[in-house]
Amino acid sequence: MYRSHNCGELDASFINKEVTLAGWVQKSRDKGFIVWVDLRDRYGITQLVFDEERTSKTMLEQAQNLGREFVIQVKGTVIERASKNPNMTTGDIEILVSELNILNESLLPPFTIEDKTDGGEELRMKYRYLDIRRNPVKNNLIFRHKVTQEVRNYLSKEGFIEVETPYLIKSTPEGARDFVVPSRMNAGQFYALPQSPQTFKQLLMVGGMDKYFQIVKCFRDEDLRADRQPEFTQIDCEMAFIDQEDILNAFEGLTRHLLKEVNGVVIDKFPRMLYDDAMRLYGNDKPDIRFGMEFGELNNNAQHKDFGVFNSAELVAGIAVPGGNTYTRKEIDKLIDWVKRPQIGALGMIYVRCNEDGTYKSSVDKFYDEADLAKWAEATGAKAGDLICVLSGNTNKVRAQLSALRMELAERLNLRNPKEFAPLWVMDFPLLEWDEDTKRYHAMHHPFTSPKPGQLELLKTNPGEVKANAYDLVMNGNEIGGGSIRIHDKETQALMFDYLGFTPEEAKAQFGFLMDAFQYGAPPHGGLAFGLDRLVAILGGQETIRDYIAFPKNNAGRDVMIDAPSRIDDAQLTELSLKLNLKQ
Ligand code: AMO
Repeated sequence: MYRSHNCGELDASFINKEVTLAGWVQKSRDKGFIVWVDLRDRYGITQLVFDEERTSKTMLEQAQNLGREFVIQVKGTVIERASKNPNMTTGDIEILVSELNILNESLLPPFTIEDKTDGGEELRMKYRYLDIRRNPVKNNLIFRHKVTQEVRNYLSKEGFIEVETPYLIKSTPEGARDFVVPSRMNAGQFYALPQSPQTFKQLLMVGGMDKYFQIVKCFRDEDLRADRQPEFTQIDCEMAFIDQEDILNAFEGLTRHLLKEVNGVVIDKFPRMLYDDAMRLYGNDKPDIRFGMEFGELNNNAQHKDFGVFNSAELVAGIAVPGGNTYTRKEIDKLIDWVKRPQIGALGMIYVRCNEDGTYKSSVDKFYDEADLAKWAEATGAKAGDLICVLSGNTNKVRAQLSALRMELAERLNLRNPKEFAPLWVMDFPLLEWDEDTKRYHAMHHPFTSPKPGQLELLKTNPGEVKANAYDLVMNGNEIGGGSIRIHDKETQALMFDYLGFTPEEAKAQFGFLMDAFQYGAPPHGGLAFGLDRLVAILGGQETIRDYIAFPKNNAGRDVMIDAPSRIDDAQLTELSLKLNLKQ
């Protein structure tokens, strides 16, 4: 038996008991005649004591030579500590060691294994196994386990069956690039790693599984950000014989369960917002509604005066910054510089000070009088003491810029409280999205998403206007899940492919298997997938998913620990038919 107890469980009730512990040396304090060692394992830290009198001289010497992160096993007696530490479960006791076994030595770790470490991001990634020994990372992984476990419990209880789908598949069109895998046995041919199990879960519905889920890895070759990894995990779900309302209820139920079990937060009904409203009020399809600062559209009150910039703009919109009138001129100038940075791209920013006495002072006083500015205040909900920030230009650009400004200001004003949870459904997404690069429409969600009832006809005349039975689950300004009701008949699916610019031959080559399946009694179905990494991070009060992934990739898509991706040798390339064998 390696240990009788772990390093986090012993307290005063164990005094005088004989115990065996094993773990890593966190640190030691050597006073010459007495040595204290902090022994650490996943569960906590227990203090060990060695001294000449009560233990033995040889063991004391051995203890003096223990290095950080040595792996040891000790036997000893639990005794009361002279100086107690009320902040630790084990803070009242220490172990008077009678036997010490060094199980393994350790090199000096390249950074300190402490909650606040001296190691930079890259170094910690390279030695991720050491980073995992630190509480913040370890606790995040334990937290993730808890969320995952609750997901499995809840969905299983609700009658969902977990089914595994293959990783070596054919390309699925989710909008990102595929990672591909060469096939040795089929020279010159490639599998694609799934961007999601979308088509398989639909086939499972045709197969009669009725309620499916899977906690599954997905792979997308796209540019990385704090909330994106090239391989990430979905809680992928699908249901048959349902309508949109059933889906929303089912997964609102799951999210509510998680918030309650994991965070102790009870949230009643999740609000619902139309995509168009989200864009109009927040400039964003994943609004953070923990705080207000909704957009006010000012076209009616700002155009047709003599201010050319606004007159020529498609959209003039503003937000009220609570208490922003206290900003100095210099601070406002800095804010203007912030929106003009290339990442945001605004050409400028107009502002209005809402004075405490009810008067207004703007940077465009020449063109607008108090009555005009009062209307701007009304439209943006600005109160005395606020600052109104106004941007203008192309509608989509203004919305994106003002949304970025809103989030930045909320961050600065501490309005994004990580302990507060504000989930909402964003509904009725457009079915199609215009792509400037390819000059054609793309499915905004994916090509299996059904248009809203009665909108099929509109596809011919105004494709951009067609709304889909598609919904996203948003929490604290992050898209944590998305899904749709699917097309389940072959004709509509063929029509969709046609609108998306696939020839019947291309559609058949890529999705023939799905269209075939639809001829054998496909039930009405729909579903959703949560981004598990994002969900876990948000529930954990953070937004960087890397911190919740055991072995994540860096921003260049590299695993710096195992040094991947890497070259493969010529023999392997030849075997995979990726290199011409010149001898042949
Ligand atoms: P979608 O593409 O919206 O839908 O993905 C579902 C959820 O997965 C998460 N996500 C990511 N998380 C981390 N890194 C990434 N690169 C990444 N990409 C997506 C997001 C997102 O909401 N098959 C459909 C679902 C369906 O229709 O049922 C799909 O994959 O949180």
